Amino acid sequence: MTRRMEGEHAAAEPPPVLHGPAADIADSSRRDWWKTGVVYQIYPRSFADSNGDGLGDLAGIIDHLDHLGGRPDSLGIDAVWLSPIYPSPDFDFGYDVADYVGIDPRFGTLADFERLVEGAHARGIRVILDLVLNHTSHRHPWFEASRTDPAGPYRDWYLWRDPAPGSTKGRRRRPNNWRSWFGGPGWTWDEARGQFYFHTFLAEQPDLNYRHPAVRAAVLDVVRTWLDRGVDGFRLDVFNAFYKDAALRPNPRRRGADPWARQRHLHDRNQPELAGFLAELRAIVDEQPGRMTVGELFDGSAADAVAFVAPGHLIFDWAAIFLPWDAAAFRQATAAREAIFGEHRWPANALSNHDQPRHASRFDVPGSGVGGPGDARAKVAAAALLTVRGTPFLYYGEEIGQRNIAVPRERAFDPFVRLAEPGREPFNRDECRGPIAWTGEGPAHGFSTGAPWLPLGADARQRNVAAQSADPSSVLSWYRRLIAVRRATPALHLGGQAAHDPGDADVFAYVRDAGAAGRAFVALNFADRGAPITPPAAGPGRSWRVALTTDERPVGESLGDRITLAPLEALIAVEG
Ligand code: GLC
Repeated sequence: MTRRMEGEHAAAEPPPVLHGPAADIADSSRRDWWKTGVVYQIYPRSFADSNGDGLGDLAGIIDHLDHLGGRPDSLGIDAVWLSPIYPSPDFDFGYDVADYVGIDPRFGTLADFERLVEGAHARGIRVILDLVLNHTSHRHPWFEASRTDPAGPYRDWYLWRDPAPGSTKGRRRRPNNWRSWFGGPGWTWDEARGQFYFHTFLAEQPDLNYRHPAVRAAVLDVVRTWLDRGVDGFRLDVFNAFYKDAALRPNPRRRGADPWARQRHLHDRNQPELAGFLAELRAIVDEQPGRMTVGELFDGSAADAVAFVAPGHLIFDWAAIFLPWDAAAFRQATAAREAIFGEHRWPANALSNHDQPRHASRFDVPGSGVGGPGDARAKVAAAALLTVRGTPFLYYGEEIGQRNIAVPRERAFDPFVRLAEPGREPFNRDECRGPIAWTGEGPAHGFSTGAPWLPLGADARQRNVAAQSADPSSVLSWYRRLIAVRRATPALHLGGQAAHDPGDADVFAYVRDAGAAGRAFVALNFADRGAPITPPAAGPGRSWRVALTTDERPVGESLGDRITLAPLEALIAVEG
């Protein structure tokens, strides 16, 4: 987590099913899927509710696996990442885990989970779990034991400290100045234990003590348990916060708009010991080929991320998640990241997730409805996400151009909003967590037969999976074709990236180059006007041929030396 329309030319044939069945997953030649594949994030409580309690569940996901893969008209993704499905009292909506190896009964049972893995694998889809290992829930038995039995085996599993010197009973001084990301001091007094404990997030999310060998062993056991249950990888929640300074030195102060920003976070994350522990965790994941992790960098930059990137182990670095609708911003962010990562480190790309405003809303054109210019922008953004070098991570609903929902702040579930400190007005994350609409029929549009925990989008009658499946010019049809073309084109899923100046500042253009496996040229017109551009020179005796476009341009047609992109056109050409 960090801060901060047109008629389309549809390919005549449905996209080929190039991703395979279960056998494919066992095939070690596909062990690089973490690099070449497309990952789809599911926020389980908003995906599909099978039992009418208003909350999505595992059986609901199983019911909709065909949407994701295995059929000619599926989206064609390679893996799903499930936001937390473990038992949780939900102070932070599943990111406060009370049992790392269980399934929250509201989502289903372990048997449901096994069915989900089986059903996904049968469609060539891998399953990635969200591991929230920096902290547990305050209701986790480890924490309960740690606070109530200060002499027992769990006594040092959390970051317990006495009040700082100079305290009196009436005025206990906190051990140091560290803050909680959500707001307020990072230290909370526990009466039972008679000490403070530290929490990077809520008081209901106490941080584990990674300097204790038993904690590391327990966490690695969790990793092994899920691998044994057949999962293919993990998203590591705020992994760079696992270790804190051993001496708990206070963070130096600096200027900033709010209490968090007024510290240099030198001692409460990014500690040198992290590297050793990550290596241990990764070695376990790597025991079988084709397994992977993606680390969520907490409040850091691409430069912080790069140190942790390794084959099979990606890091989210946030390069794209705050971009405005501006070709220059996309160009600069891509160039900056390429410069930092170099050609040998593989990026992870996301435009949206469960913590940030959905990009279809960020890039929207006010007043634009389904199939309008906002959706045209969503298609251009999707083309960037799926063709820029790196592994794309889609966020459920973006394939239909889903927007944020409106949730008044006074009714927000999100603790970030409820605890916000002066100077900080955090995004209400409920707004990007709305249920996906499967059909046009209300009130819950195929998401649930009951009352959904959050409202569906106001446009769900038109913006839903069923309607978009039937419409070749929809955002969904565009995602399906894009993913199929990406899969069929080595340059797009494993090539290097080189910027191309097409001669128009509103066009973001680049070449992807996979050597003998071919080259692709991508030109994305961010402007709502025609844009004359010059494609790069093709090799001797060759030309750029249209592979996919949002415009009327025929697939297979050669591009001339000078072409005019249509307004908001996304064009992909391959050398042939
Ligand atoms: C990560 C999650 C976010 C959660 C936080 C604390 O940033 O993405 O949703 O609130 O960690 O676990």
